[in-house]
Amino acid sequence: MARPRVLVTGAGGIAGVNFVRALRASDQGYWIAGADYDAYYIELPDLDSRHRTPRHDSPEFIGTIASIARQERAEFVHPQPSSEALVISRASDKVPARTLLPAPEVMDVGQDKLLTKVKLEKAGVRVARTVPLRRTEDLDEAFSSLGDPVWVRARHGAGGRYSLPCRTKEEAQHWVAIWTGRGTPLDEFITQEYLPGRNIAVDALWREGRLVTSYCRERLEYPFKHISPSGITGTPSVARIVKDEKANEAADSAVKAIDPRPDGAYSIDLKEDSEGRPCVTEVDAGKFHTTMPLWGYVATRHLHLPWYGNLADLYVRMGLGAAPPGDAPKHDLFPEGLHMIRNMDSGVLLWREGGWKERVI
Ligand SMILES: Nc1ncnc2c1ncn2[C@@H]1O[C@H](COP(=O)(O)OP(=O)(O)O)[C@@H](O)[C@H]1O
Ligand SMILES: [Mg+2]
Repeated sequence: MARPRVLVTGAGGIAGVNFVRALRASDQGYWIAGADYDAYYIELPDLDSRHRTPRHDSPEFIGTIASIARQERAEFVHPQPSSEALVISRASDKVPARTLLPAPEVMDVGQDKLLTKVKLEKAGVRVARTVPLRRTEDLDEAFSSLGDPVWVRARHGAGGRYSLPCRTKEEAQHWVAIWTGRGTPLDEFITQEYLPGRNIAVDALWREGRLVTSYCRERLEYPFKHISPSGITGTPSVARIVKDEKANEAADSAVKAIDPRPDGAYSIDLKEDSEGRPCVTEVDAGKFHTTMPLWGYVATRHLHLPWYGNLADLYVRMGLGAAPPGDAPKHDLFPEGLHMIRNMDSGVLLWREGGWKERVI
């Protein structure tokens, strides 16, 4: 059998390394080229060939991706970082390989938390009460209407960019001034009601407007949280699989609210409000959350689920033209209560309350 040829961009990041590892666990025998901006991290994944690319905002980015794809005869390109996925979605006609990405207009909304919030609210999906910052005086309204603390965050970016729970208007003013003083425009900030409840993620694959499969997990710990002012550092060191109908429903409605015909990978973040109602904080269209391929790897190697449990493999096969599996559950693909514990230099464990554990990496 010919080996399907795949190019993964951002392959050196943690998510990229996980994605490549998941493809290696498939029985498809993928031939995998990887590309990354970073000269060091590109050494980490298990690749057949390695390439450097300019930053996604360089005018040379697309040309470089296209020439790597041509040189490596890639049949499918998976851009792992959202920023690269957006540029590639916009210029997909210039890349000589298939992709499975939402339309650039959809990704634009998904990558802007304010536009996302407006779309979701219109569609009746619960979101945090929000006051955008257009002038510094808008902080008066934020602090009189949103409660205490107020969650300040950026419209764009990942990993809780510019996030800080602020107790007073002065704190928020100083926080925003630090970044506007370094060139960030004020309207890049929004302020939100603080959502104190569970931190939930839904990772989903869709095809031609239909949900193929998904799972839901609760984030319990972030690595290095004590050295981050918000405690959010992007990808959790401990998460557990949960079954939560309300979260599943909110996530599905959120995807449909931003994309009339969802196609590909969607990573949805939710946080519960003071009454335990899930509010959607982000719908990242075209995105594999960092551990989405790692859970897929675990599904194949440790849980012995059907092949489609390996979500990276499923996504690439669909991207190459395969029909979605008819028997995959729409929700709750992975077993409830299973924890994944991971940390830098410490490997990855599966763990259950009561003490059962199994080493994964
Ligand atoms: N209004 C809020 N109140 C409390 N925590 C929030 C709020 N909005 C976001 N967060 C936290 O910040 C994390 C990151 O936010 P998210 O919406 O996923 O954006 P990104 O991942 O792009 O930074 C969320 O998982 C959540 O824990
Ligand atoms: Mg997020």
